[in-house]
Amino acid sequence: MIGRLNHVAIVVPDLAAASSLYGDGLGASVTKPVDLPDHGVTTAFVELPNTKIELLHPLGEGSPVQNFLDNNPSGGMHHVCYEVGDIRAAIDHLVTQGARVLGDGKPRIGAHGLPVVFLHPKDFCGTLVELEEVGG
Ligand code: CO
Repeated sequence: MIGRLNHVAIVVPDLAAASSLYGDGLGASVTKPVDLPDHGVTTAFVELPNTKIELLHPLGEGSPVQNFLDNNPSGGMHHVCYEVGDIRAAIDHLVTQGARVLGDGKPRIGAHGLPVVFLHPKDFCGTLVELEEVGG
């Protein structure tokens, strides 16, 4: 069901510093930061030949990554994102398997303008999993 690894997301305490670390330090191509108020985050993407690294920083009050940053002040790995062809079919399949979809269980538009959902880390080996529908 899942396809390519779309990205690995890292919460960072300083987005400019993290972008510089990947851009200047590691010599990767890094996109400009984009605010996603609906998700309570600002993101920048490190573009690698085979996948991406999503740099995440809290935006506004009640950001879903603020707790994570409070618990991990120097930042840390937050989630992995796998591509799926049909996100509603994927959700239906997972729910029948007993997996928990976070939020209201319905896809929302994610950082790439495509539908995404998040799956409960306790159902996936302690890892928060994002599914992103890539047209197929
Ligand atoms: Co993500």
